[in-house]
Formats: sequence, C-alpha cells, structure tokens
Amino acid sequence: MTTPTPTADASALPAHDVTDLGLTAEGVRRIDWAEREMPVLRLIRERFERERPLEGIRIGACLHVTTETANLMRTLKAGGADVVLAASNPLSTKDDVAAALVAEYGIATFARRGEDRDTYYSHLNAVADTHPLITMDDGCDLVSLLHSERPGQIAEVLAGTEETTTGVIRLKAMAADGALGFPVVAVNEAQTKHLFDNRYGTGQSTVDGILRATNILLAGRNVVIAGYGWVGRGIASRMAGMGAHVAIIEVDPVRALEALMDGYQVKTAADAAPWGELFVTATGNVNVFRREHFAAMQDGAIMANSGHFDAELDLKALREMAEGHVREARENVQEFDLGGKRVNLIAEGRLVNLGAAEGHPAAVMDMSFANQALCAEYVAKHHAELEAKVYVVPEAIDAEVARLKLAALGVTLDAMTPEQLAYVSSWQHGT
Ligand SMILES: NC(=O)c1ccc[n+]([C@@H]2O[C@H](COP(=O)([O-])OP(=O)(O)OC[C@H]3O[C@@H](n4cnc5c(N)ncnc54)[C@H](O)[C@@H]3O)[C@@H](O)[C@H]2O)c1
Repeated sequence: MTTPTPTADASALPAHDVTDLGLTAEGVRRIDWAEREMPVLRLIRERFERERPLEGIRIGACLHVTTETANLMRTLKAGGADVVLAASNPLSTKDDVAAALVAEYGIATFARRGEDRDTYYSHLNAVADTHPLITMDDGCDLVSLLHSERPGQIAEVLAGTEETTTGVIRLKAMAADGALGFPVVAVNEAQTKHLFDNRYGTGQSTVDGILRATNILLAGRNVVIAGYGWVGRGIASRMAGMGAHVAIIEVDPVRALEALMDGYQVKTAADAAPWGELFVTATGNVNVFRREHFAAMQDGAIMANSGHFDAELDLKALREMAEGHVREARENVQEFDLGGKRVNLIAEGRLVNLGAAEGHPAAVMDMSFANQALCAEYVAKHHAELEAKVYVVPEAIDAEVARLKLAALGVTLDAMTPEQLAYVSSWQHGT
C-alpha cells in the first residue's frame, strides 16, 4: 500500500497520488489526441465555460483513468465543478494521463496503474474524504463505499451517475432492498451510450485486440460468436465485413432468428466447436465454452472473450486438460497443448478489447461521456425533485447527444413539415 505523496509545492498542485508527474507531457499529448475525436464533449465544454452549471459542486469520480476520462474531467471543471478522481480499475489507469490531470489540468487524482487492493481503497477513500455532492461511478464502487462504510455522508450527496451495466445491476439491487440513499442516473441505459458503445466501440476494439494479438487473416476464416446482443452484433458485422464466415451461438430464439436473417449461420456450441477456427464470447454468461467444446476444437483454434470478466470460457477445465503444457505462443497469446492438439487463448480470457487493444475509441466515448456531463448538469439542477432510486437518462439528453454528434459530423437531418407533424399527431386521419 502507498500513501498519497505530498506534492513538492502543495499550493501549486491539487491533492494527488500518481506514479510519476514526469509523464505529464506525454499525457497531455495523448489527451489532446483523444480530444480531437470528442467533438460533442468539446461543444459541451464550451457551453459549460460560459454558463458554469456546476459552480460550487464537488464531484467525486471513480472512472477508468484514460485519455477520454481526462477530457470528461476537463469538461466538468469547465462547468465550475471541483472534481476529484480515483481509478475504477487498477489495471486500466494510464499513468501519463493521471500525471497530466494533476500537473496540467489541476484535477485532484488518485490513481496508479497496478495499485494493490489497499491502495485502490485508500484512493477511493481519498475521494470520499472530500465529501462529494455528486458521485460518478463506473461499477458502483464509490456508491458502495459511501453506503457500507460512510453512511453518515449519504445525506450530503445530491445524486450520482453510473456508467456501466454491472454498476446499474448493483444499484438496482440496492434500490430494491431500500438501501440506496440518493438518486442515481444510469448513463449506461442511454441509447447514445449502449447502442454505440457496445456495438461499434466493442465491435471494433474486439477485432482490433484479436488482430494485434495474433495478426491472423480474417478473410475466409470460420468465426464463431457466442451471444447476439449489442456486443455480439457489432463483432459479427465487423468480422463479416472483413470476409470471415460467421456463425452465431444464441439461447434466445428472437436473437437467433435475427442473426439468421442478418445472414449468419446459427449453430449450437457443440456443432460450432469442430467448425470454428476463431471463437469469441460476448454473452455476459459463464462457461459458454467448456471441456467438451475444447476437446472437439480443431488444432490451432483461437479463443477470445469480450463479454463478462474472464468467466465466459471455462479456463479451469482448459488448464486441467493441458496438464501444465501451456506456453506463450506470442505476446498476449497462450497456447494450451491438449495432447496432440493446440488451442490458443488471447489475453488470458479477460476482455480482449482492453487486454490486447486500447478499449473503445475516443469517438465512441465522446457520446458516453457527453451523457455523463449532461447528466451531472441535470442532477445538479433537478436533485430536489428526484427520489433515492435508479433513473434512466432523460430522453431530451439522449436526443441532445445525438443531435450534437450529428452536428459535429456535419450532418443535417430532416424535419417534418407542418402537414406531416399534424398528420402523425392526429387520431382523426384514417385510411
Ligand atoms: N468488452 C467490452 O468493452 C464490453 C463493452 C460493453 C459490454 N460488455 C459486456 O458484453 C456482454 C454482452 O453485452 P451486450 O450488451 O451484448 O448484452 P446483451 O444482453 O444484449 O446480449 C447478450 C446475449 O447473449 C446471449 N446469451 C446468454 N447466454 C448465452 C449462452 N450460454 N450461449 C449463447 N448466448 C447466450 C443472450 O441471449 C443475449 O442475446 C456483457 O457481459 C457486457 O457487460 C463488454
């Protein structure tokens, strides 16, 4: 465990515990690069600078410390907020970004890549010590900490926002138990978040991770994708676009039918195992591929997961079957010798788009974080009208994010004529 480092000149820099302030210049360069891909957040930042809707509000954020998050933090600060940031995952912290946040952008930051559990929680506590009025979570850790260890602070919090599926599930469980102490807006539920983030962001970055790790040719390859939700659809369309033969595994009949009519084969895991050459899981479920499937796979088969932690492949069974015959075939690729046959695993079965590539591109995070910024503004304004439950993102915010993104891309959309508006609003017109 480390303790927060006292700064050389405490009056010049905000409170922090980061790995190396010497990385600031590199962090600034990379934050600037991401910023070019985040026009919606830029437009919001410019408005926030003029209107200062978050003046005097302390925001405690627990998010992945990445270049995109840095641009969100800058936006909140431009709106007048006093922002304090800790990492939501010890492995996703970019140390150069953490340094730049502190030394260039004046944002209190507590994050070191690879920090141990105690340090992680000391950082979360450092955020909680500042008594945030708004919480901003990615996985509900800050909200959980306040509720479990600092119940006395709950009444101070006006509201929170939550970025991800897992966090929303935890919050809904808390609300159902009557345990949630303040309103939280589920940013993940915004259409301009999950439709684009899960489908286009994860779709592209999953292919990116697989290619970086293996450098295989996708054209002509048999690719099996488990799960045809937003993530699976995104991966499937990108794989097919690069010439792969795609088969989908599903348990939901509607999704399976959709996959079929989108032009893919639909197979069971048992039928897909000997057919596939590359397997990608995106179900949110556990042990989708198991012992019997590994046993049936071809020599040289490759597996990757882009769904739920590292639980979608039965790695325990895979290790047992290899009886210790495991080697690094390439960086990020483990080869398991199953007695005369080799199967390969990318990024240890963890999320391949984060483990072997750089996660979602900034242009996608632009919309997720635009929702975060606008939801922070919304709860700052409307907290008195909200109850201690989980709220969906207001439709007007979703539409505003889409409108700003289209404007930034130079696209104008049509508007209904007065005649059309009257027609669709009336019940008197029949056939
Ligand atoms: N890698 C990333 O960066 C990233 C980003 C977003 C979401 N995710 C994760 O990806 C997963 C999928 O997300 P989504 O938005 O597509 O969810 P979703 O619920 O829309 O889709 C999941 C699909 O998997 C199917 N499924 C469930 N169990 C199955 C099984 N045993 N075999 C075959 N299919 C099965 C379901 O029927 C469903 O259609 C989630 O765990 C989510 O947290 C990862």
